[in-house]
Amino acid sequence: MIFKGSHILSTDQFERADVERIFEVAAEMRPYAQRKRITRVLSGAILGNMFFEPSTRTRISFGCAFNLLGGEVRETTEVKASSLAKGESLHDTARVLSGYSDIIVMRHPEVGSVAEFAEASRVPVINGGDGPNEHPSQALLDLYTVKQEMSARGRDIDGLRIALIGDLKNGRAVHSLCKLLGLFSGVQFKLVSPPQLEAPMAIVSELLGKGHKVEVCHELEEGIHHVDILYVTRTQEERFESQEEADQYRGLFRVNQSIYTEHCEPNTVIMHPLPRDSRSAAKELDDDLNQNPNLAIFRQTDNGVLVRMALFALILDVAEEVHNHAQPVTWYTAKRKPNLP
Ligand code: NCD
Repeated sequence: MIFKGSHILSTDQFERADVERIFEVAAEMRPYAQRKRITRVLSGAILGNMFFEPSTRTRISFGCAFNLLGGEVRETTEVKASSLAKGESLHDTARVLSGYSDIIVMRHPEVGSVAEFAEASRVPVINGGDGPNEHPSQALLDLYTVKQEMSARGRDIDGLRIALIGDLKNGRAVHSLCKLLGLFSGVQFKLVSPPQLEAPMAIVSELLGKGHKVEVCHELEEGIHHVDILYVTRTQEERFESQEEADQYRGLFRVNQSIYTEHCEPNTVIMHPLPRDSRSAAKELDDDLNQNPNLAIFRQTDNGVLVRMALFALILDVAEEVHNHAQPVTWYTAKRKPNLP
């Protein structure tokens, strides 16, 4: 694909070579994200960071990624704090906001809303999550993490064995990740969910059509044997008609250290898009795994900055210029523990 000036709305847009290009640029961003150097390549540019649904890491990491490239960020965080609450259409909001920004990231609770917004926008738009549909930047950072974790184990994404666990019906991060993994070859998927929360048929059929192996499981223990990666997800409570309905699924699948030791192969990587639900009744990913070196969740969040910097650099066509604008860091920078597996 041609990145320059493009909207990023769905993982369907990508070929394998596009994903590899994003990862190549992401790797170049590491010294800036680690505060070893600064760059001002996007000095003067403005990101409109429009979040009409709750978000912590996606919103902040997109904002930081833009700042790390030297740009400024303007944002809104709630529907009720914006004119959408006064009945303004997505079309009008897009026409207005695209006059103020060079690029827009948008999250919204309705499927297809970001695409509708992008149609009226005069600047590129990145989908930060449209309801239960898609979350392309999350899938890219997840896949980047998969690649790193597997390469530390002398392996590649081709031939990966992955268990996706939890609310696979409503989890947009899972939907986008499955589609991206589909671009590689010979992936073995175990889709572990309650029967009512299985992954959409369209996604499963697409994977089967591409020659991947897909096994649907309703038991956690059965699903986590013989895989390289556990990708655990939260019940997407906000997508259910009522809290009572969502409560039926709370705590059904809990991965903790003893389950891991008993049922997983040694060194199985543990991932989660976060936030994990750490309330005692839920705990789909127990904090007794925090000392497990295979827990990659915070490597995922660190990688999110690199991948989002890469998207901005490619879409705004400065990927080749980043290092030309590099300067030394002049302030005290805390030594962070290594992020690598
Ligand atoms: C995910 C999302 O919003 O879809 N979170 C995120 O962006 N990292 C997953 C979730 O909310 O469970």
